[in-house]
Amino acid sequence: MKLKHLVSAAVAACAINTAMAGEVEVLHYWTSGGEAKSAAALKSMLESKGHKWKDFAVAGGGGENAMTVLKSRAISGNPPAAAQVKGPAIQEWAQEGMLAKMDAVAGTEKWDSLLPAVVADVMKYKGSYVAAPVNVHRVNWMWANPDVLKKAGVEGMPKTWDEFFVAADKIKKSGAVALAHGGQNWQDFTVFESVALGVGGAQYYDKALVKLDAATLKSPTTTKVLETFRKLKGYTDAASPGRDWNLTTAMVIQGKAGFQFMGDWAKGEFTAAGKKPGSGFLCAAAPGTANAFTFNVDSFILFQLKDAEAQKAQQALASAILSDEFQEVFNQNKGSIPVRLGHDMGKFDDCAKLSAKDFVSTSKSGGLVPSIAHGMAVAPAAQGAMQDVVTQFWNDDKMSVADAQARLTKAAATR
Ligand code: BGC
Repeated sequence: MKLKHLVSAAVAACAINTAMAGEVEVLHYWTSGGEAKSAAALKSMLESKGHKWKDFAVAGGGGENAMTVLKSRAISGNPPAAAQVKGPAIQEWAQEGMLAKMDAVAGTEKWDSLLPAVVADVMKYKGSYVAAPVNVHRVNWMWANPDVLKKAGVEGMPKTWDEFFVAADKIKKSGAVALAHGGQNWQDFTVFESVALGVGGAQYYDKALVKLDAATLKSPTTTKVLETFRKLKGYTDAASPGRDWNLTTAMVIQGKAGFQFMGDWAKGEFTAAGKKPGSGFLCAAAPGTANAFTFNVDSFILFQLKDAEAQKAQQALASAILSDEFQEVFNQNKGSIPVRLGHDMGKFDDCAKLSAKDFVSTSKSGGLVPSIAHGMAVAPAAQGAMQDVVTQFWNDDKMSVADAQARLTKAAATR
């Protein structure tokens, strides 16, 4: 008996040592103030389980740079252990046959019942979990600086696009920048999808930007979307082109600008700057989108590894990501809401509480739609082609709305 105990103790010690030696190289693009705090939470969670985190951060909002780097590492046969990949791109990586299955962890920890079906479906390939979801970001947000609004005589957050332009005119007159915008392709597309949702509604959005229905893209609603989108440009500042999203949020934080349209990772910046909703900043759904929710779920894919210790560390990462403890800390820093169903929102701020409430209500009403700008709605090829058109239209004042609409419809057919 004694010997048996000793043997099992030795085996257990061995297992711990083995686990301790595991290292996961994690590719991500969380480099802004709020994002870095969030990434640090994941790192410390993994390290508290005795594993090593090898940081592989590739700067660039929206992750385009990170995806380019990931592809070149994968092509050279040396992918990282884990990478921040989401939406339909998960399926593309899985089809390459390079991903590890997470079914063991998912089964033990009951991911099927922990996750909303709309999220679980995206994480699976041929019935197996190949990605672990981290959070739910809402993209259709409008952020504002309450002091800038007050000074300009704007009362309350605009609920329609007409109200928005009235408010924006007042802010412009007061001397501040009405709309903080970072002119980068993914930021242009982020604003565009919120305009499409607000002008056309969730059903239109679904047909035009998820199903990529040509007739809907050619419809008068799309014309109105493009016109509204173009009008916004007149409220941005001359330094907008090329500006990073977090520096753009900083303009709102510092009272240089009134509004910004950006997903709730922007809230991570307000929070990191010590600002509180209500007094330091305001959040509301983008005009016309209060009954809708563009979701953007960050997730990690795990690549197949040969080394058993590294595999264990990978599994520990997957398990840590879905833990209650991690979801609580990470999402408060990141600006998103927990992806676990029924998570207690007690310690979250009012914007997160609103997001959690709207996530549930829109999932019942049909207002819950995937974000196209953030890789949740369509395959990367069509997304990229459409994003290019939107950016060209934004930058080239001479491109007619009709021309942009025709190009957008054509781009949507890219496979
Ligand atoms: C990601 C966020 C990230 C943001 C800015 C989004 O696509 O989902 O996690 O904070 O881009 O980089």
